[in-house]
Amino acid sequence: MPLGNVHITPQLVQAVRDAVDIVAIASDHTRLRKAGRRYQGLCPIHKEKTPSFSVDPTQGLFYCFGCGAGGDAIKLHMLTTGDDFPAAIENLAMRYGIPLPSRTEARFTGGRPERDIEGALQAAAEFFKDQLRKSAFALNYLREKRRIPPELVERFGLGYAPEGYKNLLAALHPRVSHADLEAAGLIARSERSGDLYDRFRHRLMFPIHNAAGRLVGFGGRTLGDDKAKYVNTNETDRFHKGDLLYGLHLAKREIRESGQAILCEGYFDVIGTVASGLEGAVAGMGTALTPEQTKLLARYTEGVVVAYDGDSAGENAFRRALPLLLAEGLGVRRARFPGSHDPDSLRIEAGEEAVRAAVEGAEDAVTAEIGRLIPDGVSAEPQSAILRYSYSRLAAGRLGIPVEMLARRADRPPAPERPAGPAGPQERPVAPPRLVRSLEEQALEHLFPEDGTPPQAPPLDELPPPEVFLDPECRNIFDAFRTLYAGAGVPPDLAAVRSRLEGDDRAIARLAKIMVEREVASGKIGLLESLDRLTDRWRKQRRQEVQREIAEAQRTGDHALLGRLLDERDRLNRSHYRGSRPGANPGLG
Ligand code: UTP
Ligand code: MN
Repeated sequence: MPLGNVHITPQLVQAVRDAVDIVAIASDHTRLRKAGRRYQGLCPIHKEKTPSFSVDPTQGLFYCFGCGAGGDAIKLHMLTTGDDFPAAIENLAMRYGIPLPSRTEARFTGGRPERDIEGALQAAAEFFKDQLRKSAFALNYLREKRRIPPELVERFGLGYAPEGYKNLLAALHPRVSHADLEAAGLIARSERSGDLYDRFRHRLMFPIHNAAGRLVGFGGRTLGDDKAKYVNTNETDRFHKGDLLYGLHLAKREIRESGQAILCEGYFDVIGTVASGLEGAVAGMGTALTPEQTKLLARYTEGVVVAYDGDSAGENAFRRALPLLLAEGLGVRRARFPGSHDPDSLRIEAGEEAVRAAVEGAEDAVTAEIGRLIPDGVSAEPQSAILRYSYSRLAAGRLGIPVEMLARRADRPPAPERPAGPAGPQERPVAPPRLVRSLEEQALEHLFPEDGTPPQAPPLDELPPPEVFLDPECRNIFDAFRTLYAGAGVPPDLAAVRSRLEGDDRAIARLAKIMVEREVASGKIGLLESLDRLTDRWRKQRRQEVQREIAEAQRTGDHALLGRLLDERDRLNRSHYRGSRPGANPGLG
């Protein structure tokens, strides 16, 4: 298991990129068969019955025609394991025997070596598990009072911190140093006597992991009458409550596959939800949901069902969480729990079925909010057309959708979540991928010849502006190409463009799709011709826009604007393509 103390340097990342074998990575998760220069198989990222996953070892890229995921070997490792980028680099480096520069060497904290916090935490987790096996009282509480099935006790690594002040200390010391135990937040020092003592006493212990699956701390629920129902590890170098989602490391694969997470308030709610037959449950850490937690969640899913407690505290927590979740572009639904029930207590009182019904019947949160503001039966259509228009603009803007879609959306049922692939036995011959290649994709393909030679690109000043690409992903790819071209004076290669796009996952996936598809693509047109066609298309569209803007400027009497627009129309009408490209950007200046 990676220790997380590796210093990720660009050299290390490069060494990993050079060493990884994308076919080997893919083969860990799916059976591949060779098809020409490529390999194909069932996609390891989404569920499918007909292979639409394709790997190109020469270019080190993969692409799935079913779910649209694509990228390089590191990306594939991240998607299949759920590792984040640092964890992926560390794991892959270990797998390929690349020496890891350790952070301990890289930066010495004030002359003190860094503590082995993870070692201390792991030793403690073992101790707590062992104590649970030996404690009839704690076992009885779990089984009888909380009805947690033994396999979930195992899966969540639950343990018991016994009564008394020195149990952990005595069991772990001197194997684990006092300094490490203290740094891990497991023991504390009495202010009066200076004596060391266990922080967790007579508590049921929940080990807490980060998204990459590293143990970072514990939450402990009292089994007695302690005033503090829960005690968590205090903030240490490794434990930042606001960055963690309890249960994510166990649920992430399911979340990614189903496209849905269930966000609860407490540790027991996560376990109770899983015990009810639902997967993908995670919880905040007892504080208000943070932007960091929201971002983390959004890396795994597009949708979330909020399963907060039914009481007014849960309502308030939901109100605060909603804008954060929406800001990350997540679809938000809300499960309702009667009275002050939470998923865990509802399961105990009304059974698993009731929890499933609450989650499955969760209502879309935005719809519910609008319903709350404008109750049924109230006609909220503004009399003023201008007001109507500006409301729809506002709504569309906030939802990030074109305003015309609002109208169209309203009277059409929502599309099915995933395209349902044709069912068939696994061993059927590989179906030809759907090759709906846009003109834009075809143009981009030519920029990166397969043999790695530089493209026969026209001189920089004859390249059209990125605006001629209407598809944002294609536009970003072309923009990266152009920028690098301008910087270096020569056309960049695929690797350079790919690293310039780092962080833009959609563009990278699209690039991978284009490169992987090209072998089976037919009806190709040349680079110059495709750029010309794109430019023509853009020009036509711009002409229409300019015409509309001219009419508007005439109506409002804006003479300065009108003059500029007439000039632009002239320029648009005059030039005919090939050689006189809109590099000078006539339409947008
Ligand atoms: P709740 O008070 O809702 O507890 O706290 P619960 O999860 O329903 O617990 P049970 O069912 O009574 O055992 C929700 C979460 O808030 C944090 C914990 O993470 C808990 O799971 N919390 C709560 C604390 O950190 N400290 C506390 O004293 C209470
Ligand atoms: Mn509870």
